[in-house]
Amino acid sequence: MAKYDNNFIDELRARLSIVDIVGRRVPLVKKGQNYWGCCPFHNEKTPSFSVAEDKGLYHCFGCGAHGDIISFVMNTEHLEYPAAIRELADMAGLKLPEFQPKSAARVEQENSYFDICERACAAFQKFLFSDSGAEALEYVRRRGFTDEMIKKYRIGYAPKNNLISSTFTDVKQNNLLATGLVRRGEYGLYDFFRHKLMFPIFNPKGRVIAFSGRSLDGSEPKYINTSDTELFHKRMTIFGFNFARDEIYRKNRSIVVEGQIDAIQMQCNGFGETVAPLGTALTEDHIAILCKSNRNIIFCFDGDAAGQKAAARACSIVLPFIRDNSDVRFAFVTGGKDPDEVLKTAGAGAMQKIIDDAIPLIDFLWKIVNTNYLVKTPGGRVQAEKFLDAEIKKITDKKLQYEIEQEYKKREFQTWRSWKKTDAPKIKMPGIDAVTKNTLTYIVNNFESLATQYADFLSGLNIPFDDDAPDLKWDSTSAEKFIVSLKLKKQLEILDARRREMMQGMVNGENYTNDDIAEINKKIDEVNKKLEKLLYME
Ligand code: UTP
Ligand code: MN
Repeated sequence: MAKYDNNFIDELRARLSIVDIVGRRVPLVKKGQNYWGCCPFHNEKTPSFSVAEDKGLYHCFGCGAHGDIISFVMNTEHLEYPAAIRELADMAGLKLPEFQPKSAARVEQENSYFDICERACAAFQKFLFSDSGAEALEYVRRRGFTDEMIKKYRIGYAPKNNLISSTFTDVKQNNLLATGLVRRGEYGLYDFFRHKLMFPIFNPKGRVIAFSGRSLDGSEPKYINTSDTELFHKRMTIFGFNFARDEIYRKNRSIVVEGQIDAIQMQCNGFGETVAPLGTALTEDHIAILCKSNRNIIFCFDGDAAGQKAAARACSIVLPFIRDNSDVRFAFVTGGKDPDEVLKTAGAGAMQKIIDDAIPLIDFLWKIVNTNYLVKTPGGRVQAEKFLDAEIKKITDKKLQYEIEQEYKKREFQTWRSWKKTDAPKIKMPGIDAVTKNTLTYIVNNFESLATQYADFLSGLNIPFDDDAPDLKWDSTSAEKFIVSLKLKKQLEILDARRREMMQGMVNGENYTNDDIAEINKKIDEVNKKLEKLLYME
């Protein structure tokens, strides 16, 4: 059968969750590692149909039906392969590539790229323990790498002179160039990595697809990575994932750190579920890959300003991926510049504490809003609300979106427009009776949107709305009517008091005229009419 380009199919699989796709037709419940439901391919009353998010597969223990997102769509919607791909691409928001058969020549070429990367990795490893690698070896040991770690992560050294371009002479030049390991210059091919400490980058299956080279003499940039190739797409590759995969599964969570050395040191100090993006930019593809195991992620950023910025970005990117059972948290490194340093100077216990202190996504987003906007001013609050609204819209689960929105409404009211006695404005309001107070307390605690809408008026009343209130079972229309009528009555009281003051003033010979009185009478009339209209007409 003709096939789409593998990269495209991989991208589809990375972007779409099989639990979401199956879940559109079959109600699923999570039990243990997998999701379960009644098989759509045979008739049953007790669920024997299981879906494994991480593997992207479903399997029915009743009828033996088995497959992935593509076969699921083909079989449930009775579509041919190309139509199923088209529908899935649509769901993933991807443009369909040309329908391309993968030729034997392409397969052979790809295998050649893998071979070259593998051979290069082995050569770099050998050089680290040669005379020319002495400086690099000393460096990596000083950074806390044991020989065992060097071996496991296959760390190597690219010598100062050309290694690959001068010794890989049996390989087709074009294939060599395609791996990004060599480049063509004026005088022929030359090595891309020279005098670097070499970290191989593996695909999830553990095959070498690229390299990251660290400078050893303080020269900038500190790290250079293989540019994108047919094997290696930086924005879709997570450093350390091949090693962390099982542990991410076992611990039912992943930790994301900023640097690759951090990821390695974390993995070797009891945090085997740690990975890092390559370069500093985290992409949604990275998150999609992690979310195939589970949707529990702890982002652990450096404590500097750059870390705060990266965290805000991660927060924004992760929102579309959260579900009602996700646990996404943000931790910030303290007591050192990055996890590597903390582990080295303060130890794994200190790192554990940092991870334990991670704050939930919803609290972190709230913190971002409150630090980035001047929420003490009306304009700042509007900006903050607009930002929050846009962020909340990214949550794809509509019910979850609604709940989170309500949560923030509550926080906005409680902290931005607080009615608490201590920070209420000092306008003197005529007092209110106990029954009215109870009614208002009931309304404020049951109709958050009304509480927000009439926050200025309510806070002016100087009532602590945190007491117990009777359960009145009102609807929001009558609740609003109550607030508005009270507001009008209070206005009347104030106007009336003012009028009496003015009349007394006139008697005492102060400078008030009949016009002043007439004006205030007119206002009283207006408010009275409004009140009448509100109370006696629907
Ligand atoms: P950092 O500057 O925090 O470096 O960059 P680091 O990880 O602490 O590096 P060491 O400990 O000094 O060796 C974090 C990550 O950003 C990427 C690398 O992946 C690095 O691990 N980076 C950084 C680059 O790709 N290029 C650079 O020039 C610098
Ligand atoms: Mn570091």
